[in-house]
Amino acid sequence: MIETKQLEHGFTYLDINNNHAHLKIALHGGHIFYYKPHNQEELLWTSQTSFYKEGKAIRGGIPICWPWFGKHPSDTTLPQHGFARISLWECVAVDKRDPNETTVTLELKHSKESLNIWPYRFKLTLMIIVNQTLTVSLTTHNNDTQAFIITEALHSYFHLDDITHVTVKGLENISYIDQLDHNTIKSSSQPLTIHKEVDRAYINTNNTLTLTYRNKTVTMISRGSSSTVVWNPWIEKSRQISDFHTDGYKEMLCIETANVYDNLISIDPQKSHTMEVQIITTL
Ligand code: BG6
Repeated sequence: MIETKQLEHGFTYLDINNNHAHLKIALHGGHIFYYKPHNQEELLWTSQTSFYKEGKAIRGGIPICWPWFGKHPSDTTLPQHGFARISLWECVAVDKRDPNETTVTLELKHSKESLNIWPYRFKLTLMIIVNQTLTVSLTTHNNDTQAFIITEALHSYFHLDDITHVTVKGLENISYIDQLDHNTIKSSSQPLTIHKEVDRAYINTNNTLTLTYRNKTVTMISRGSSSTVVWNPWIEKSRQISDFHTDGYKEMLCIETANVYDNLISIDPQKSHTMEVQIITTL
């Protein structure tokens, strides 16, 4: 079943309930902000104090960072992580014929406003497939007459019961940019555990990562992605973020399927690029 509903704050969202999971996608940002496989806990974290208003991204779920990740390279007055996560997307297709699999396609196209801050004609297609797993696929089409460059991320906030019990595997011996230490390049031979603030961009990553906590393993299989960003703001930073609920840092970890820094993507006119992640939970 798929219904169009409204949050009390006024945002329109698609509410999908099939044989495998319950999922909510806001048209604001093309933003998945709730995902719960049946008989499991919510897999994605969303802040209890998130804003739901124009010009702000929902804090949690899977914000789409595009066409630049982080600060704009030359104009810091432009929105952090680009404008896709604060733009209104359109739902262009829904396939719900099979109760075991629902596919939703959203689109965002260039507009007068987008051309003012990013001077290229484009179409972004977000395809979301909910079956036993969740697949999120972001395709950038270059509809311009010149090539353009993007950086991007599916900024997934995973929901955990205790950050100090988490292990991330698949990033060992991969160079990362430590965004908390003057962008120094580092690496570690050990699986990643989190006991303090972390903000790392791993470059040239493998396409399979696992996140393990308690008795649960979440596997992320990516395609068209060469970077992984790992972020937890920990105590001090999370207190400075007004839409982050108190102690929320204990229950979340962002593992972002991305193309950032040297893994930027150049797309020629009339060509496209797809970045995708499939999220698989095993209990
Ligand atoms: C991460 C960045 O991807 O997103 C961090 O690496 C940033 O540096 C974080 O703080 C959250 O960004 P925002 O704009 O959603 O507060």
